[in-house]
Amino acid sequence: MSLLYEVKNLKFSYQLEDVEFEALKNINLSISQGDMVTFAGPSGSGKSTLLNLMGLMEVPSPQMIFYNQKCLGTLDEREKNIIRRFDIGFIFQSFHLFPVLTTWENIEFFLIRQGVEESKRKELIEESMEIVGISDLKDKRPTQLSGGQRQRVAIARAFAKRPKVIIADEPTASLDQKNGEAVMDHLFGINKKFGTTIIIASHDPMVLKHSPKTVSLKDGSVYEGNV
Ligand SMILES: Nc1ncnc2c1ncn2[C@@H]1O[C@H](COP(=O)(O)OP(=O)(O)O)[C@@H](O)[C@H]1O
Ligand SMILES: [Mg+2]
Repeated sequence: MSLLYEVKNLKFSYQLEDVEFEALKNINLSISQGDMVTFAGPSGSGKSTLLNLMGLMEVPSPQMIFYNQKCLGTLDEREKNIIRRFDIGFIFQSFHLFPVLTTWENIEFFLIRQGVEESKRKELIEESMEIVGISDLKDKRPTQLSGGQRQRVAIARAFAKRPKVIIADEPTASLDQKNGEAVMDHLFGINKKFGTTIIIASHDPMVLKHSPKTVSLKDGSVYEGNV
């Protein structure tokens, strides 16, 4: 399988008033197209920081993260936006759905921004809703849905644009065991059926049990032992 991400000696610091806090210390890893990988580790170990850098929510320093052989730290704004818009779908712990939009409209939102034409949008939205079993919820707004249903809408939204990568930050942390397992089943199914690369951050033992690959972090470094 071809290499999708290569992370080389990655360091990242947050600037706090007059002190620097080093959240990632020296991370080396690679992820191939079609992998499903979970970053494990306790709260504060740097999981979200790493996902945010890989998903271009934060911009890494030059020469530290390569995506499709492109160095994320040196891309111009236009190239970064193309990757964000077309290649990466995000899923968050607290769903981040647009409260005023229906399920259908939430899923459609990023497709419109991508310039996908209407009949293609309809096809992509219908297929995405079907995959996570929410076709009957298409006219509901988030407040009319349970947590498990909201996260399934968020998965459908992330997947609708057929991204190369889905990045999921603690996707089960707001859910009970049964709904958490359903989220993992859907992500696993998307990975298998479409070859979408899935990168998860989680400290939920159920997620780790269902993850084909795990990379453990501790205090901003990759940790070889059990976390
Ligand atoms: N915006 C920020 N400003 C300053 N420090 C931060 C910020 N975000 C995270 N941190 C710190 O960086 C470390 C790693 O955080 P994070 O990546 O959120 O870890 P995790 O997702 O594993 O809980 C923590 O010590 C956290 O307090
Ligand atoms: Mg986190």
